[in-house]
Amino acid sequence: MATASQPAAATPSTPDKPLIVLAGATGQLGLLIAHFLRQRGAPVRALVRPGAVAGAEATSLRLQSVEVVAADYSDPTALIEACTGASCVVSALSGLREVIVDAQTQLLDAAVAAGVPRFIPSDFSADFTRLPDGSNRNFDLRREFQRRLEQVPIQATSVLNGMFMDLLTGQAPVVLPGPKRVVYWGDADQPLDFTTMTNTAEFTAAAALDATTPRYLRVAGEVASIRGLQAAATRATGQPYKLFRVGGLGAFGKVIQVTKALMPASSEVFPPWQGMQYLHNMFSGQAKLAEPLDNDRYPEIRWTQVHEVLAGRQ
Ligand SMILES: NC(=O)c1ccc[n+]([C@@H]2O[C@H](COP(=O)([O-])OP(=O)(O)OC[C@H]3O[C@@H](n4cnc5c(N)ncnc54)[C@H](OP(=O)(O)O)[C@@H]3O)[C@@H](O)[C@H]2O)c1
Repeated sequence: MATASQPAAATPSTPDKPLIVLAGATGQLGLLIAHFLRQRGAPVRALVRPGAVAGAEATSLRLQSVEVVAADYSDPTALIEACTGASCVVSALSGLREVIVDAQTQLLDAAVAAGVPRFIPSDFSADFTRLPDGSNRNFDLRREFQRRLEQVPIQATSVLNGMFMDLLTGQAPVVLPGPKRVVYWGDADQPLDFTTMTNTAEFTAAAALDATTPRYLRVAGEVASIRGLQAAATRATGQPYKLFRVGGLGAFGKVIQVTKALMPASSEVFPPWQGMQYLHNMFSGQAKLAEPLDNDRYPEIRWTQVHEVLAGRQ
């Protein structure tokens, strides 16, 4: 049994419990993926940047018997050694070009050199694969990395989960509890995909341990239109919510351009204009996940609904 001062020993890998290497394990999603991998009994090796190995997140990982390895992404030899023996490398990194393209490529190259058979990139998003370049800065970076991923001999699986449902009670200015409005642009009946971060992590852990995954896995805890969000907010709070249509998608595009010009914040991963690009991609239907979804692939997962998340805000 681990104690706060004495973390448990790392779990050894066996043929039926193969080692998973997890990059970005100290992040919000990464910590949850590590937790669900350990819940399934999998040995986990977390690649953590040297500056974070003494942090609380790394301690939390060790307390779950995760092996924490200091990883310098610019050192290919050390990165190959860190990937050696893994059945799958999972990336939960977050950042801009130097992370999504550069660090993930270093990780991918190390995984290939170490003979790792499978790789799950840090996609965890709406379906960026069919979007035109320039419509979402962060998705452009994912497609750029995807082109590299498809050129190397490794079995890649992307988990596409729509928007994190948790954002409906935070960053995403859609369901507004003050004025009791659901704010949108475009069509109130356009289906939108939402999944909690916890469900995404649970599904990703299962996928990491499943040697037969296809190139894409698409999940959504709930597919809800704006009218569906209105019903969910009303149900969650017991108070009537109204719709507020700000305008059409063309006007939204212009607002995004103006916001980006006035508040570029280009070094931020999620500046306000990028969040607006994300909503535009969803409201237009271009980033909608193709159905049928893969929700039932691991039947033990219970998918959290929008009204449950909104009720939790109260
Ligand atoms: N679908 C959605 O609505 C949605 C919303 C939010 C996020 N996401 C996605 O979910 C994934 C994880 O996001 P998150 O919120 O969990 O991220 P996070 O909490 O910011 O964690 C990011 C992780 O990446 C690591 N990292 C950052 N820069 C790095 C670098 N240059 N080299 C190596 N490691 C680096 C961090 O390590 P350190 O601890 O060393 O800093 C940390 O472990 C990302 O793909 C993100 O885009 C999706």
